Amino acid sequence: MDLKRRVYKKDNRVLIGFMGSGKTTFGKALAGKLGMHFLDTDTYIEKQAGKSIADIFAEDGEEAFRKLETETLVYLRDHLENTVLATGGGMPLRECNARLLKETGRVFYLTAAPQVIYDRIKDSTDRPLLQGENPYGRICELMKERKSRYEAAADELVDTNSNDMEEILDVLSKPF
Ligand code: S3P
Repeated sequence: MDLKRRVYKKDNRVLIGFMGSGKTTFGKALAGKLGMHFLDTDTYIEKQAGKSIADIFAEDGEEAFRKLETETLVYLRDHLENTVLATGGGMPLRECNARLLKETGRVFYLTAAPQVIYDRIKDSTDRPLLQGENPYGRICELMKERKSRYEAAADELVDTNSNDMEEILDVLSKPF
């Protein structure tokens, strides 16, 4: 068996980035364009756990959620084929996840300015980390804290500020 091929499944495309960077929106469209499967780690975890991400945070705590993310990634790394994988915004925070992400596929880091992120997600209520009094301030703070982790986990950076679907899909669908 070709072990290297089994471990490095480069036919998958993995999207990382802050909440609201467009991982799910662009990921679904990308999968449609390339005829690939689409999977979202948050949705996968919710199905496995039988409860929402918000409930996992509230009942079990953030650390328990981060552990589920790593376990999920180990499983997906070994099983995904021909898939666009959208990940939760905190997935690259654990150092071991950066390696797992790269072993799963080509990793695209979707970026956008804090104001663009804020405008995209200001009405959503399902993100436990942004439910405080000053979500814009929290976005700026978390983005600053996480920037180096996203960069370390990424193969390629993709600017989504324009919201231009066609232009962004062109970049994400390039052969590699
Ligand atoms: C999180 C991002 C969320 C979800 C959880 C934690 C984060 O996913 O995994 O609320 O730490 O950035 P999205 O990026 O899809 O919103």
